[in-house]
Amino acid sequence: MIEGIGHGKVILFGEHFVVHGAPAIAGGIANRAIVRIKRADNNSIVTKQKVVPEYSIAGINSVLGSLGVTEKYEVHLEGDLPTYGGLGSSAAFCVGLVRAVAKENGVKLNEDEVNKHAYNGEKAFHGNPSGVDNTIATHRGVVEFRRGTTPAESKFEFITLKTPMHLAVSFSGEYSATAKMVAKVQQFKDDNQEEFAQLVDEYLEIFALGKKAIETGNIEEVGRLMNANQALLKELGVSYEHNEKINAIALRAGAFGAKVTGGGGGGCCIALAESNDHAEKIAELIRQAGFESFATQIVKKD
Ligand code: PMV
Repeated sequence: MIEGIGHGKVILFGEHFVVHGAPAIAGGIANRAIVRIKRADNNSIVTKQKVVPEYSIAGINSVLGSLGVTEKYEVHLEGDLPTYGGLGSSAAFCVGLVRAVAKENGVKLNEDEVNKHAYNGEKAFHGNPSGVDNTIATHRGVVEFRRGTTPAESKFEFITLKTPMHLAVSFSGEYSATAKMVAKVQQFKDDNQEEFAQLVDEYLEIFALGKKAIETGNIEEVGRLMNANQALLKELGVSYEHNEKINAIALRAGAFGAKVTGGGGGGCCIALAESNDHAEKIAELIRQAGFESFATQIVKKD
């Protein structure tokens, strides 16, 4: 079967604040969606992962429509990127699918074209995606992202990663309901305008220092700022009990920083570790507490 690959992502800084105009920083992780296809009479999805088949089929239709391909495919989703939400798995799936279908049809696409078609697929999953996930699923690397009033006006800028970043990624057990959490933060903003503005100001300071720390390879400082970002997410009400529990285990195990990544309200957490071995150790302790957890790295731009 013909194969295409897309990478997962984590948000290091700025989930939720990015919805309200602040910049965020997201990074591609080593975990990948591997998409294998074969021609069939109808489009279908075959996977051991938890997916919503209607969304997957809609995503396949959108990708094929965007590529102008009229063939139909049995699409197999494999790889080591879990689909629990928060890790950009739908975007990684779309990128893998674009690459596989282009290859199968002898179409040569540059990376920007892969990204554009994958974005069209993402719309079937998320309606109005910001575009950060498909950009990272295509290029990997670390991206500073600013949302525009329309997705086309959103801006991405790659940040050079000075040193490898080792992470333990954990799943709270509750599938992240990003839209619900976005609505919750909007409510918080409506009810507490002054406090929200102050939290945004605090976040902007964290963002500026965080960007510098990534660029200079000051991992300890990145971790400290992740913790500061996490405190703000807690105030916004998107860090739930399981998120707090996971972060506490990671910090006790010597993580430089630990936070919710993505929408929160459950979903996923990340912990920044000193080395791959350290990330494995943190992940093991989190697994012992009953949560899924794995070690991974943020990977450099291709
Ligand atoms: O849960 P994810 O990985 O889709 O991330 C959501 C990030 C938010 O800032 C909460 C929402 C958004 O559209 O940026």
